[in-house]
Amino acid sequence: MLAALLSGLALSQAALAANVNNLGNLAPYHKGPVPEGLNETLPEDCSVDQVMLMGRHGSRWPLASELEYIVNLTTKVSGSWDYIQNADLPESMSFLKNGYTTSLGHDNLTATGRKQLFDHGVAFKLKYPDLNATTVLAGDQDRVVESAQWFSMGYFGRDWFTLQDTMFETIPEDEVTISWITPMDTCANWSYTSFGVAPVEEWGAVYLPDITSRLNGIIPGLNLTDDDIHGALYACAYDYAAYEVSPWCDVFTEDELAQFEYELDILMTGAFGYNLPDPMGATIGSLYVNKLIDRFTNASGDAVPLYLEFGHDTTIDLALTALGLAKDDPPLSTTAMPEERAWHTSQQVPFAAQMIWEKLSCSSSFEGPQIRLILNDAPFPLSTCADSEDDLMYGSCALDAFVSANGDSTTVSWGDKTWNATCGASDF
Ligand SMILES: *[C@@H]1O[C@H](CO)[C@@H](O)[C@H](O)[C@H]1NC(C)=O
Ligand SMILES: *[C@@H]1O[C@H](CO)[C@@H](O)[C@H](O)[C@H]1NC(C)=O
Ligand SMILES: *[C@@H]1O[C@H](CO)[C@@H](O)[C@H](O)[C@H]1NC(C)=O
Ligand SMILES: *[C@@H]1O[C@H](CO)[C@@H](O)[C@H](O)[C@H]1NC(C)=O
Ligand SMILES: *[C@@H]1O[C@H](CO)[C@@H](O)[C@H](O)[C@H]1NC(C)=O
Ligand SMILES: *[C@@H]1O[C@H](CO)[C@@H](O)[C@H](O)[C@H]1NC(C)=O
Ligand SMILES: *[C@@H]1O[C@H](CO)[C@@H](O)[C@H](O)[C@H]1NC(C)=O
Ligand SMILES: *[C@@H]1O[C@H](CO)[C@@H](O)[C@H](O)[C@H]1NC(C)=O
Repeated sequence: MLAALLSGLALSQAALAANVNNLGNLAPYHKGPVPEGLNETLPEDCSVDQVMLMGRHGSRWPLASELEYIVNLTTKVSGSWDYIQNADLPESMSFLKNGYTTSLGHDNLTATGRKQLFDHGVAFKLKYPDLNATTVLAGDQDRVVESAQWFSMGYFGRDWFTLQDTMFETIPEDEVTISWITPMDTCANWSYTSFGVAPVEEWGAVYLPDITSRLNGIIPGLNLTDDDIHGALYACAYDYAAYEVSPWCDVFTEDELAQFEYELDILMTGAFGYNLPDPMGATIGSLYVNKLIDRFTNASGDAVPLYLEFGHDTTIDLALTALGLAKDDPPLSTTAMPEERAWHTSQQVPFAAQMIWEKLSCSSSFEGPQIRLILNDAPFPLSTCADSEDDLMYGSCALDAFVSANGDSTTVSWGDKTWNATCGASDF
């Protein structure tokens, strides 16, 4: 009894520190960190001439496979009604006395997701008033399409209802369409199960059992399993994504939530990042990097000033991998969580993440065209091509230096020898 009281006390203190912005790629949109010493304001003689936006869809319901964990947890809670009524619960878990059911759907955008994208559309118009969009492109999945639509309503206003007939385009998300938005789908050797699910299970076996036994120590009659705990962690993230509140977040300590955050980093680097078998991540991500370079150098002669494109966290993570940014050395381990890491899905790919590439020209501060990455409203230093103090101060690079630094991407194209050596032969 005393132990339960004490752990209840520890929990309510820990709960004060619970921060939904640390829920990995399931975190709500928030501004990224600005590295110390970096200046967010460009010199006055610089202007932005060309912009390429890759927007992630906004907050969504859980995937069907994730919802199953939450539903199983609710089954256990409702099957234990009598036990819970008589149990001595810490304050953070007293909500269970009223039962816990779920009305979460799956896969589609939530109300919060709609608002994130509408707000982004408004903010983008205000930030780049002089650049006019000619098309809006979305990966053809419901939540991505709906995100692009809400962004467009914020950006164009009601004109969108007439403009969309000529401006709105989608690109299939399937295994036969070569796309920089879903590039892994056309890499035959790529597999979500092998590269994403397997490492998540490895890390889960490390961190979940301690949480399970801690909570079973408080409410032994519920007989919670590791899968139930996983469900409760998902419930925290997805209740929040749908309703902006969840009773489950306060059940966990800050350290426990940090371990869940690490699970999401492991998932994303495993299936869409540096932990793919080398050089698969960089090869797949090269489709995006080559699109960017092609447009910013106007190599095909058909570049336009503004690209508004919508996809996934996976799109952004694979691009970062091809660019050599946010890279950890040694690679992230599935058995131990490092204190510090560069790959942080909470900061890089929250819901409604925005990867914005700017091409700049400056009359005196810099010579020649420059490039800058604004990731979630914060400059993300292009460390792989920076070659002057000013580059380091603004996080930018000369476009030429950027192109040279990305030779590994520009020498690959879909279905060539290099691509096939990594991805295997495609069946189309
Ligand atoms: C950032 O750069 C701008 C433009 O060069 C300059 O006006 C401003 O003082 C700089 N800010 C800081 C904190 O150095
Ligand atoms: C949910 O419960 C069903 C029925 O017991 C079980 O078959 C399934 O594997 C469980 N799913 C998860 C994700 O735990
Ligand atoms: C939990 O397990 C105990 C011991 O096996 C059992 O008596 C109890 O009924 C179980 N509780 C639930 C809710 O299934
Ligand atoms: C998502 O929304 C679309 C459009 O309303 C609908 O057709 C689809 O069934 C929804 N999917 C789910 C899983 O709810
Ligand atoms: C962009 O659109 C606005 C409003 O329609 C128009 O006034 C402006 O001239 C356009 N700018 C360019 C560069 O086409
Ligand atoms: C790309 O080059 C073509 C042909 O010279 C030109 O019409 C177009 O404006 C250029 N695009 C950009 C974004 O500079
Ligand atoms: C990709 O698949 C091919 C066979 O299709 C195989 O030879 C190659 O080793 C695989 N490469 C990787 C990195 O898995
Ligand atoms: C790569 O594989 C595709 C089939 O997936 C084939 O059409 C293509 O010719 C191959 N490329 C090379 C350079 O062999």
